[in-house]
Amino acid sequence: MGVPRRRPEGPQITDGPRPEGPTTRAPLRQPEGAATSQPLAGRTVVLGVAGGIAAYKAVDVCRRLVDAGAHVAPVLTPDAARFVGPLTFSALASEPVRTTLWDSPEPIPHTRLGQGADVVVVAPATARLLGAYAAGISDDLLTATLLATRAPVVVCPAMHTEMWEHPAVQDNLVTLRRRGVHVVGPAVGHLAGGDAGAGRLAEPADIVAAVIALVRAAGEGGARGPGGDLQGRTVLVTAGGTREAIDAVRVITNRSSGKQGYALAEEAVARGASVILVTTVDRQVPPGVAEVVRVVSAADMQAAVMPRAPQADVVLMAAAVADFRPKAPAGRKLKKEDGPPPILLEPTHDFLVDLGASKPVGQLLVGFAAETDDVVANARRKLRSKRLDLIVANDVGAPGVGFEHDTNRVTLLGGDGTESSVPLATKRDIARAVLDAVVRRLPTQGAAP
Ligand SMILES: Cc1cc2nc3c(=O)[nH]c(=O)nc-3n(C[C@H](O)[C@H](O)[C@H](O)COP(=O)(O)O)c2cc1C
Repeated sequence: MGVPRRRPEGPQITDGPRPEGPTTRAPLRQPEGAATSQPLAGRTVVLGVAGGIAAYKAVDVCRRLVDAGAHVAPVLTPDAARFVGPLTFSALASEPVRTTLWDSPEPIPHTRLGQGADVVVVAPATARLLGAYAAGISDDLLTATLLATRAPVVVCPAMHTEMWEHPAVQDNLVTLRRRGVHVVGPAVGHLAGGDAGAGRLAEPADIVAAVIALVRAAGEGGARGPGGDLQGRTVLVTAGGTREAIDAVRVITNRSSGKQGYALAEEAVARGASVILVTTVDRQVPPGVAEVVRVVSAADMQAAVMPRAPQADVVLMAAAVADFRPKAPAGRKLKKEDGPPPILLEPTHDFLVDLGASKPVGQLLVGFAAETDDVVANARRKLRSKRLDLIVANDVGAPGVGFEHDTNRVTLLGGDGTESSVPLATKRDIARAVLDAVVRRLPTQGAAP
């Protein structure tokens, strides 16, 4: 990571037309102003496709990458070719599909592909592909290319929920994330065979947005450039207010819009982090976020955060998690005619305490305190009792501050006793200040604990 890549001059990846081998198609003449509509113009994307049921969606990913101006070099695993015809990719991509290390017109196809790529994206990434890549096994053209590249890599896992949740698959993802691989998805939804759950391939539009964000960040010296001070780090961000069921249709919630959490996620991506966003809100996800987990209640958020937190270098708990929930939510809609129901509340489990207690050495845990009274004193109490490293306190009663606003004003309190105020600013600027404070406290990468 961070090593300058050698980029071949002239036509990328192939050596020029060959009678039976891969050829590079001449790029179409770009209309005036195409730079903005074609954010990947002049970039080479190796599109890896592994053998999962979602392989057919890679055709859409390929088309979108080409539409965004990329030179797309498709690489299918032999098993991917069982699911979707290689000819389809050859017809849509910028050069013919490759499926094998052998019999290539190029003497060493994987190094040509790996060295020439600006980004390698694998969609779908099967459990096998993730395992081989994490273990450094290069037994086909796609895995050999993954090991032969220094370009940013995006993997988009897709598989049945049982496979996705298997510890072997999750461990492989921890390994890959630690090495700076970006993981996009999977989403929750319909799966093959009439099943539903986590494991659905991320939407092709989201995959392409992530690729564009990576290329942009690299160009700005961000995600992969020398300026990315969170490069190689995993940042987990929670955003939005949780919703606690009263009955089948009604909820108790709070006014958190998720804007501050999303601004933190966006800023962390821009600084090179691999970002996991656990969110209750349906806002446009910032491009380049590696994993998005959508949740509803405090219990859902706990279930999403706890298994992911140990792999994070930084946990930013920006979500407004309910303190109370209805003790006995009705499974059906309560009828108006029956009159107002008595709603007995019970405390939710405070998993921020668990995060503080089980914090791995070197991890930075950041809490957020939305207060209307004694803001700093209350925040300092929370900082101590929950063993946080940093707390971001905001007076949500003040004008232009906190929930739903585009601006915020905060006080940062450190576990080391430090205190600094950030005056009214956009939530992105607040995010910058928070992450500056985080970076100052992070142990140097690779340092002994
Ligand atoms: C019908 C069918 C659907 C499959 N879908 C998936 C899938 O969605 N994700 C996955 O990881 N494996 C899936 N598999 C298993 C993979 O095809 C198998 O592990 C294969 O070896 C993957 O090869 P590859 O990673 O080299 O492409 C499926 C297998 C079959 C027969």
